[in-house]
Amino acid sequence: MCKSNQTPKAVLVAAILLASTVTATFASAQNGPAAPANLRCEYLTNPLGIDVTHPRFAWVLEHSERGQKQSAYQILVATSAEKLGRDEGDAWDSAKAASDDSTQVVYAGKALASGGRYYWKVRAWDKDDHASAYSQPAWFEMGLLSRDDWKGQWIGGANQLRTQFKLAGGVTRARAYIAGVGYYELRINGARVGSNVLDPAWTTYDKRALYATYDVTLYLRNGANALGVMLGQGWFASRALLFQMDVELANGTHVQVSSDTSWKAKNGPILSDSVYDGEVYDARLETPGWDNIDFDDSAWGAAQTVPGPTGVLSAEMMPPIRNVDTLVPISMRSPRPGVYVYDLGQNMSGWAELRVRGPRGAAVKMRFAELVYDDGMINRDNIQGAQSSDTYILSGEGEEIYNPHFTYHGFRYVEVTGYPGTPSLDSIRGRVAHTAVESIGSFVASKQILNQIQRLIRWSQLTNLFGIPTDCDQRDERQGWMGDAHVTAEEAMMNFDMPAFYTNFVRDIHDAQGTDGSVTDTVPHRYGSRPADPAWGTAYPLICWYLWQQYGDRRILEENYEGLKKYVEFLRSRAQDNVLRYSYYGDWVAIEHTPGEFVSDAYYYYDVEILKSIADILGQSADAWTYAQLADQIRDSFNRTFLNVRTGEYANGTQTAHALALFLGLVPDDHRGAVAGHLTNDIVYTHDTHVTTGFIGVKYLMPALTQIGRADLAYELATQTTYPSWGYMVESGATTLWELWQNKVGPSMNSHDHAMFGSVGAWFYNALGGINLGTDSAGYRHIRIEPQVVEDLRWVSATIETIRGTVSSSWTHSPGEITMDVVIPVNSDAEVVAPKEEAMAAVTVREGDHVVWQKGHFVPGDPGVTGASAVRNDIVFEVGSGHYSFVLTEESR
Ligand code: BGC
Repeated sequence: MCKSNQTPKAVLVAAILLASTVTATFASAQNGPAAPANLRCEYLTNPLGIDVTHPRFAWVLEHSERGQKQSAYQILVATSAEKLGRDEGDAWDSAKAASDDSTQVVYAGKALASGGRYYWKVRAWDKDDHASAYSQPAWFEMGLLSRDDWKGQWIGGANQLRTQFKLAGGVTRARAYIAGVGYYELRINGARVGSNVLDPAWTTYDKRALYATYDVTLYLRNGANALGVMLGQGWFASRALLFQMDVELANGTHVQVSSDTSWKAKNGPILSDSVYDGEVYDARLETPGWDNIDFDDSAWGAAQTVPGPTGVLSAEMMPPIRNVDTLVPISMRSPRPGVYVYDLGQNMSGWAELRVRGPRGAAVKMRFAELVYDDGMINRDNIQGAQSSDTYILSGEGEEIYNPHFTYHGFRYVEVTGYPGTPSLDSIRGRVAHTAVESIGSFVASKQILNQIQRLIRWSQLTNLFGIPTDCDQRDERQGWMGDAHVTAEEAMMNFDMPAFYTNFVRDIHDAQGTDGSVTDTVPHRYGSRPADPAWGTAYPLICWYLWQQYGDRRILEENYEGLKKYVEFLRSRAQDNVLRYSYYGDWVAIEHTPGEFVSDAYYYYDVEILKSIADILGQSADAWTYAQLADQIRDSFNRTFLNVRTGEYANGTQTAHALALFLGLVPDDHRGAVAGHLTNDIVYTHDTHVTTGFIGVKYLMPALTQIGRADLAYELATQTTYPSWGYMVESGATTLWELWQNKVGPSMNSHDHAMFGSVGAWFYNALGGINLGTDSAGYRHIRIEPQVVEDLRWVSATIETIRGTVSSSWTHSPGEITMDVVIPVNSDAEVVAPKEEAMAAVTVREGDHVVWQKGHFVPGDPGVTGASAVRNDIVFEVGSGHYSFVLTEESR
């Protein structure tokens, strides 16, 4: 018998208590708040070389329970991994900060040192004050924070530069900072450093140049070392290098190597390089070992100081351009003797890798094209002034593999001539390159044409990201046309991880802004005009606004507030009687022309409205009032000028005119019905359910139709396969989106890879997938899941890895039943709009094992589902975070 001074009852109670504590401990290890994941600093994962003095942090929360939120967080930032491991935030310890912010949390610790590496982690408390474990450690490292930190000079003199130096000891840490314009390739001791290509990104060089930071610790060694840099012309159209390397040795010594006239210079095998025209590379001029020690550089001249870019130096804080994929040709044909045409099966951006064996001095020429003629020869009529051709001159030594260094092309076909012997399918590979943004979105639907269009959208978008958003990738433009940039921005933000890229582009726009507040048609400014067409210049407020909406980026609003005000004031100075009429392009590439002044004035209103909203967000109430008044005046003048009150038609009655007016809320209430009627009649009766807009109008046409309750008609346009439509491009064999609705191939403006019609991709996620921001919400804090269950669409599955975590909406529709699978991230909540079939009188809604709606009422009790109400034909559920499976069926009577 057990000897105890406790009574049997007391033992039992103690046992139960013990058991429950054990269970509780066990439960908190398994359940409850998980350690924060996906730690970001300035939108980047473990960024090397940032120059933001107060970087912002974000993390993603997970929790085993539904309806969970963060009530507090603690961030530790330490100057060493060891300190962080000991929970010592010697740079910053936020302590337990009562806040539900899990994104855009601003560093508030000690001043961050130039070149300093910082380690950080975060833990979070849930709404019930349960703490998570700390996250895995992450880090960020500062770049060179001031111009004085740079010791080198801008040098050049040839397209290859080298230097040699000795290190008296083992290397514990080494960083290379490099600004090489137009483009550079850095090599140390014979090895290529990093995998960035066409780096750094193009900027307005007299305002700013970007530099990259590399961890080169493992490239260096005790003793002699050599550095080699190749330079390309890029958009700078000249070659200049600014370089600095900071090395720490095991013995505590600090060594610095920087660019100066002690470097040696000699032109290498690249005979010419140009973004548009391509590269000529003579392998006979290679000097093996030039980037390594023991190389005799006595034949090299001294590097010279050269005029570099005059602007400030900034860290490149976005994904670099990289070779991200390789395509194997689907065919090779020889339409004429000695002419070989490869088909990669996909219009792409990048270059062709060549494999060849042959005699020294043989020259293989590759020419690039999006199209072929009927006889199989490449058709380059549409690439206009771009030569788009690479030539490789063989060294004659064994198998030679050539990838050009400082050029890219937009192409599906590669013509090879001068090949010694007969090439094979393996002689060419398509090397896909663009800004290496991650994919964060997926959209799939039961209607195949939508998936095919989505594929075109994604390819067109990616192949037009080259440090800036470009219009096209093949002809002699490839410019940051602002109109193209803003219409595609929302689509891009839903498909790809874009915040760092657009943060950089907004800074580019700001750099291009004139003292009068005007901006330019292209950024950096090279083509087009200043002031920009208002439908192009609007990229400045709109992209700022989209960054706010998608990521909750308050800083972009703060930093650009004065710039945006100046821009709007510039427009105001050009308006007469509150109507802004100047325009160059208007609803570009439209089938039915809309007056440019109508488009400009609509954007004037839009820009003022956005500025007013930004003023509200930033607490600038006087400005908010001023711009609200101005917006009202513009709306009145707009309607006086463009609305025919007798017929209820705007301007010349085009789809663009009506869609823009509806989307922007410009239409007086008593005319909304008429305007909506004109729009739908024009689509259905006048144009047999086809679009007539250009790329401006179509961005707003689809959401405008959805807003007026005609998502079905938008769906018909989206799935249309005859001219003009996206489906027509697919059916015509397009693998990227065209510049024109027409299938043109002649020597005119008809790029076959323009991203701008891809704006419809945002509508795929918003309307068909149903993923929307809640009213007045930013950064997916409040979400609205509202799928448009239309016509013969049987299911859709859409997911976006948002800044707060996964948001997902998948639905199915079969007669009498609609199912919805919804994922809402921790720390967010959502309204889930469950649509009924028109014919359904009363419905029952189940979520998992619970009935949540019956006999016209919400049935409480399901965890995470906090309420529901009937709104028109829909039932709107209020949910917290979690994964929900709703099934809506007709109620049995
Ligand atoms: C570009 C367009 C651009 C336009 C300006 C064209 O050459 O490719 O996409 O927006 O010029 O009208």
